[in-house]
Amino acid sequence: MQDFTGKVAVVTGGASGIGEGLAEALLEAGATVVIADIEKAVLDDTVERLGGKGEVSGIVTDVAHPESVGSCADAVFESHGACHLLFNNAGVGGGGIAKPWNWTPNDWNWCFGVNVFGMGHCVAAFVPRMLEMGEEGWVVNTSSSDGGFQPLPDLGVYAASKAAVSTYTECLANAFVNEDTKLRAAVFYPGGNGLLETRLWNSGRNRPPELARERPHLDKQWDYQEVKKQLQTKGVQVADLVELGRSALQGIREGRFIISLDPAASGELMMRRAEKIGRGELPTIKRDGIFE
Ligand SMILES: NC(=O)c1ccc[n+]([C@@H]2O[C@H](COP(=O)([O-])OP(=O)(O)OC[C@H]3O[C@@H](n4cnc5c(N)ncnc54)[C@H](O)[C@@H]3O)[C@@H](O)[C@H]2O)c1
Repeated sequence: MQDFTGKVAVVTGGASGIGEGLAEALLEAGATVVIADIEKAVLDDTVERLGGKGEVSGIVTDVAHPESVGSCADAVFESHGACHLLFNNAGVGGGGIAKPWNWTPNDWNWCFGVNVFGMGHCVAAFVPRMLEMGEEGWVVNTSSSDGGFQPLPDLGVYAASKAAVSTYTECLANAFVNEDTKLRAAVFYPGGNGLLETRLWNSGRNRPPELARERPHLDKQWDYQEVKKQLQTKGVQVADLVELGRSALQGIREGRFIISLDPAASGELMMRRAEKIGRGELPTIKRDGIFE
């Protein structure tokens, strides 16, 4: 897809952070954007802020629930008669950090419910109708360096959920090609080129009470401001989220399966990890590896 003018794009989790950057880049490129997000007040503010940039609307949606996703898809097709671009971007951090053996059942349920099942529910609700349209279209699933090339030991549940996103997207992309469709799928890795100043660190704001953590964390939690300071002393800059969104659109124009701001740099990390795995070795990541 080269031209986004007049295309209908749905961005889940687009009320803030990376999704908001994607929505803004899409509007800039002439697409009609529907933001599906669980946080109504923030969604309303974002739709109002972006309103001057093009045709944008919001639908309160909880991607973890198939009925909510189904209503969202119905509303999109009723209002716009199409969906050409589906960005499965809604995600949660998993609830702090923990040694792999210290996650609780509800940490798994919540994180996988949003990050993995949410993506699956959206594909199930939108893709059959996108296929029926018979037009060119894309499904772009937001993964993470944790799911593709740098799984941090203290983020096991989140990393596992994002690995599921990456692998599932590979299945989806191959199915689109094998079934001779006009749809394509890509994995979006937003991180790796700067500090992403989003609200992922505060994902717990959207955690449903019935999936609350059963007990306090046993492990010392990261302090975001401290992490930010450490990264900045190493020269890491705060990333521009709209530029990140533009890079995702560029990845689509180029027909890439892996999309990131700096494909060469993320590709290099993936190859280093794959080489080790191919030799049967552990791709080592030090405890504080990311901050070195
Ligand atoms: N921030 C990073 O460093 C980083 C790095 C790599 C990947 N990611 C991924 O990028 C995506 C966006 O995260 P972000 O960093 O912008 O965080 P964010 O918290 O700013 O944005 C996430 C959005 O998802 C929404 N959301 C949460 N649960 C939802 C649900 N059940 N249904 C619908 N919407 C829901 C939130 O309201 C929010 O608007 C996530 O998938 C995240 O895992 C983030």
